[in-house]
Amino acid sequence: MGSLQMLFGLLLLIAASAFDTTSKPGCPDRCGNVSIPYPFGIKEGCSRKGFDLVCNDTYTPPKLFWAGVFEILKITLEGQANVHTYVASDCYNETGSTESNHPFMSLGIHGPFTFSNTGNKFTAIGCDTQAYITASYGSNFTTGCMSFCGGNVSVIDGLCTGIGCCQTSIPQGAWGFRIKVNSSHNHSGLLDFNPCSHAFLIADDQFKFSKSDLSARSKYNRDPAGNYKEVPVVLDWAIWNETCEQAKKNRTAYACKGFSTCYDSTNGPGYRCNCSNGYEGNPYLELEGGCKGTVSSLLFVFIVGSWLYWGLKKRKLLQLKEKFFRQNGGLLLQQQITSHRVGATIKIFSAEELERATNNYHETRIIGRGGYGTVYKGILPDHTIVAIKKSKIVDETQIEQFINEVFILSQIIHRNVVKLLGCCLETQVPLLVYEFISNGTLSDHIHDETHSSSLSLENRLRIASETAGALSYLHFATSIPIFHRDVKSANILLDENLTAKVADFGASRLVPLDQTQITTLVQGTLGYLDPEYFHTGQLTEKSDVYSFGVVLVELLTGEKPICMNRSQEERSLSMYFVTSLKEQRLFQVLENRIVDEGDVDQLVAVAELAKRCLKVKGEERPSMKEVAMELEGLRRAVEHPWVQQNLEETQTLLGETSECYNENGSVIGQDSLTNHTMSALEIGR
Ligand SMILES: *[C@@H]1O[C@H](CO)[C@@H](O)[C@H](O)[C@H]1NC(C)=O
Ligand SMILES: *[C@@H]1O[C@H](CO)[C@@H](O)[C@H](O)[C@H]1NC(C)=O
Ligand SMILES: *[C@@H]1O[C@H](CO)[C@@H](O)[C@H](O)[C@H]1NC(C)=O
Ligand SMILES: *[C@@H]1O[C@H](CO)[C@@H](O)[C@H](O)[C@H]1NC(C)=O
Ligand SMILES: *[C@@H]1O[C@H](CO)[C@@H](O)[C@H](O)[C@H]1NC(C)=O
Ligand SMILES: *[C@@H]1O[C@H](CO)[C@@H](O)[C@H](O)[C@H]1NC(C)=O
Ligand SMILES: *[C@@H]1O[C@H](CO)[C@@H](O)[C@H](O)[C@H]1NC(C)=O
Ligand SMILES: *[C@@H]1O[C@H](CO)[C@@H](O)[C@H](O)[C@H]1NC(C)=O
Ligand SMILES: *[C@@H]1O[C@H](CO)[C@@H](O)[C@H](O)[C@H]1NC(C)=O
Ligand SMILES: *[C@@H]1O[C@H](CO)[C@@H](O)[C@H](O)[C@H]1NC(C)=O
Ligand SMILES: *[C@@H]1O[C@H](CO)[C@@H](O)[C@H](O)[C@H]1NC(C)=O
Ligand SMILES: *[C@@H]1O[C@H](CO)[C@@H](O)[C@H](O)[C@H]1NC(C)=O
Repeated sequence: MGSLQMLFGLLLLIAASAFDTTSKPGCPDRCGNVSIPYPFGIKEGCSRKGFDLVCNDTYTPPKLFWAGVFEILKITLEGQANVHTYVASDCYNETGSTESNHPFMSLGIHGPFTFSNTGNKFTAIGCDTQAYITASYGSNFTTGCMSFCGGNVSVIDGLCTGIGCCQTSIPQGAWGFRIKVNSSHNHSGLLDFNPCSHAFLIADDQFKFSKSDLSARSKYNRDPAGNYKEVPVVLDWAIWNETCEQAKKNRTAYACKGFSTCYDSTNGPGYRCNCSNGYEGNPYLELEGGCKGTVSSLLFVFIVGSWLYWGLKKRKLLQLKEKFFRQNGGLLLQQQITSHRVGATIKIFSAEELERATNNYHETRIIGRGGYGTVYKGILPDHTIVAIKKSKIVDETQIEQFINEVFILSQIIHRNVVKLLGCCLETQVPLLVYEFISNGTLSDHIHDETHSSSLSLENRLRIASETAGALSYLHFATSIPIFHRDVKSANILLDENLTAKVADFGASRLVPLDQTQITTLVQGTLGYLDPEYFHTGQLTEKSDVYSFGVVLVELLTGEKPICMNRSQEERSLSMYFVTSLKEQRLFQVLENRIVDEGDVDQLVAVAELAKRCLKVKGEERPSMKEVAMELEGLRRAVEHPWVQQNLEETQTLLGETSECYNENGSVIGQDSLTNHTMSALEIGR
């Protein structure tokens, strides 16, 4: 935004310099706050001959002078300038004349300046006043006016018509004048309200007569320091001293350049120039600074400026994107995709697409926050809802690893693993796009008060079984084993049908086939962390088994993995659970609902499985494959115990547990969709 303002500033400046200050290019364009248009100039080579001014820097602000004495207050390209001239006074007291001055001013006979005959009036103030102005314009010409008044009352503010005040015009072409002011009766009889006469040449629009101008404290009196008062005067200037017709004969000397026209001065000899219709600029300058087509030129500058600005900005953005893309391993990924010919499974999103999908990463779109980064809900143009994970800064050295994981994950197609749809590498941190799982985390469902009772034992066992299946798949069925490294209830998502989806592979590691363990920086979540891994730093597939064991215990007990309310030794859920088992207190630690819904043998079996997962020594733990198979078996037994019973028992069992089943009827119906259940039901019938 800053640079946009800069651009507009620049454009304004260009516009301003084109139509306001129009000094010769490369020349100082102002003295103090007075701008100096060419043909005037204050440096050698910056002005036309005879148009040089002096800028005196000893004043603050610096003052601009003509002929060393006239301070120029303003110059316009339209042929005018402003200066000050002195007031003539003639004063009396009872004993006679006390003061009399007759100022003389000359702008120079060969100079470009003349006193404007239309912009100024010769003005006299007083009640016993005769004022004369002798103007020089080749010959001398004297004119003047007289002013009288029959006392204070006859004078009217604002009226300068001979009563207390009189005015007259001056002739054309005057480059100098002398003013004389005199009285007929030495102001006798008037001294109390009008002791002085004043006369001066003044800019028409700067004068307004007032009664107080007559008094002893008139503003036209000398100041306390004794200096004569000055009044503003308008000057005309012209290119001296030929007419247009004469001037055009000598093209080198002719002042009107480019698209300009010439017109004769109406105030003395000389001519001036104007830009032709539709052009603006300085008619006395060639090309740069000279007359230009106005609207189109401004538009042109604007369009070119904008084009350059946006072009540069876009280019910079593109460069940045490309840099991030490289930095994030985009090329590596592209290479992988092309070489493996499976590009269809992962889409590379552009930064804009995801910005649009998340409403520019709006706060309201945040659905999760954690050590890994932030997860946003996104809506793609085809109305697909996705979860977009904005990772924390990725260590550059891990880029290759990261890309590998993205690539591997993109190929995992498992019902219980959150599907990675694509990624975006144009941003500083890589963005991952996942399918959107609507019903929150398992942790929420187990621990959040509002969900606590919603998960039946059956659902819990199914979720455990699904999770175990997914982990088993990751460990054994992918082309390169993947250790999840952060298995926990918060990383197991549930969809609308409460189907488990293992998520967050931010910490996951690919393990080359010839290795069964790798040494890494210990990473994981407290309460789920494999103690053996914690002590040795040796990551094996059994670390995930341990963490899964904790999740299983969470599902059985409804307790959190770390609980400060328990005694020191039992603070960790795994310790607490194992101790309880050892002390035969299993049914005291299980969640009530589980005890109510479960079959003692099955519950004990699941608890024993959990206990084995939680073995301190990794090698004593079952593999994820075993766990998955065992859970699947247990689950089937819990759901449909009659399969393993004889038919008579089946009837009684069905009768006994029908209430339970009715309660969860919908869940059975849903589960019946799975292949195993179907066959089990068919066998049962
Ligand atoms: C120049 O500055 C003075 C005082 O700083 C101000 O009164 C005057 O109007 C300014 N003139 C122009 C042309 O800006
Ligand atoms: C500037 O003004 C000062 C004071 O009026 C004067 O002494 C000096 O000579 C002037 N300088 C120029 C270059 O005119
Ligand atoms: C009149 O003015 C003169 C000169 O300024 C002075 O000497 C004289 O005292 C004044 N007379 C009166 C009556 O004020
Ligand atoms: C005009 O007046 C000035 C001074 O008042 C004088 O020097 C000059 O000679 C006069 N010129 C003519 C042509 O009378
Ligand atoms: C002013 O006018 C008086 C007579 O009214 C005359 O005597 C005197 O010389 C005049 N002074 C000047 C400077 O013209
Ligand atoms: C005005 O005063 C002057 C002297 O200052 C004197 O010579 C003259 O006679 C006076 N005129 C009148 C009309 O008083
Ligand atoms: C002029 O007359 C007004 C009243 O009409 C009065 O207030 C003022 O003081 C008088 N001015 C002088 C200079 O006598
Ligand atoms: C212009 O000025 C020159 C002297 O600088 C003079 O010889 C010439 O006659 C003037 N021309 C006109 C048209 O006034
Ligand atoms: C035209 O003007 C230039 C510059 O003022 C001068 O040097 C030249 O002699 C002039 N030419 C004619 C033909 O008057
Ligand atoms: C989440 O699951 C519960 C239990 O099955 C269900 O009642 C609820 O509607 C689900 N919520 C959403 C948003 O699907
Ligand atoms: C949930 O189950 C219903 C009915 O079985 C099915 O139509 C729907 O697609 C399932 N939803 C998901 C996300 O699998
Ligand atoms: C169960 O799945 C297997 C392959 O996964 C298939 O061969 C079998 O027909 C399926 N059984 C039923 C009942 O759908």
